[in-house]
Amino acid sequence: MMGTTLHSMADRTHVYNFMIPKVTDELDLRHGTILYLEGITVSFDGFKAINDLNLYIDTGELRCIIGPNGAGKTTMMDVITGKTRPDEGSCWFGQRMNLLRMSEAEIAEAGIGRKFQKPTVFEKHSVFENLELAMASNKKVFPTLVAKLSGEQRDHINEVVETIGLEQQLYTEAGYLSHGQKQWLEIGMLLMQRPKLLLVDEPVAGMTHQEMDKTAELLKTLAGNQSVIVVEHDMDFVRSLDSPVTVLHQGSVLAEGSMEVVQNDQRVIDVYLGGD
Ligand SMILES: Nc1ncnc2c1ncn2[C@@H]1O[C@H](COP(=O)(O)OP(=O)(O)OP(=O)(O)O)[C@@H](O)[C@H]1O
Ligand SMILES: [Mg+2]
Repeated sequence: MMGTTLHSMADRTHVYNFMIPKVTDELDLRHGTILYLEGITVSFDGFKAINDLNLYIDTGELRCIIGPNGAGKTTMMDVITGKTRPDEGSCWFGQRMNLLRMSEAEIAEAGIGRKFQKPTVFEKHSVFENLELAMASNKKVFPTLVAKLSGEQRDHINEVVETIGLEQQLYTEAGYLSHGQKQWLEIGMLLMQRPKLLLVDEPVAGMTHQEMDKTAELLKTLAGNQSVIVVEHDMDFVRSLDSPVTVLHQGSVLAEGSMEVVQNDQRVIDVYLGGD
């Protein structure tokens, strides 16, 4: 409840973690798979937005999800983050965490970060302060943060700032950043929480070509340290990620494989890539 109040105060779509009861289960990645979705069905008034969906994501993998409007891509992310509960199916984070039994806040705390389409950085605060605030939403560091940043926390901010390429803008108010830079800052804010899985919905909408290239580099850098699921319509961008692609159509997996393979799949051409 208090988390919700803070959330609306700050006008962010992000869930704050520091008041949430601890998730006792530890993430178990022994089998090399970080996310299991099996037989997931989500109905809205009888219409199946997700229809018997199976999806498996490896630890450290970068995966692109593509598919026509209404294919269920965002709804799938809503299921993973606990925003929408499926009518059927199972959804596991590692071997032992049943996401369907966890609240949205617990899922965020367990290490699943979500980047929404619209950047929601704190415009009146600097890049540094935005990252600092994002760290404050981790309950373990919040009490110390109010007093003074530890060396380790400062190092983490510097490391994230370097990853997102905003070293030159460290003390710039976020309101003055370009659209692309704001998107990177928001990814940085998610990284402050040390997520294990990042969900990114249409990150390059509205970006320049140069910003798109930098975003592709950034997401490729993140993979390995965490798993990343990217939903995107821009096929040049998807190609530049050079990662396995899953094509969703009518709430199910239509095809899966490299971009090379899926773009030559006649079913994919028929429902999605025909005009590309
Ligand atoms: N809360 C809701 N209530 C009713 N229908 C919904 C709701 N959310 C999504 N839908 C429907 O479910 C289907 C899947 O929507 P979803 O937003 O997941 O698609 P998407 O693949 O993300 O599409 P896009 O590429 O346009 O973002 C659509 O037909 C949509 O209208
Ligand atoms: Mg969507």
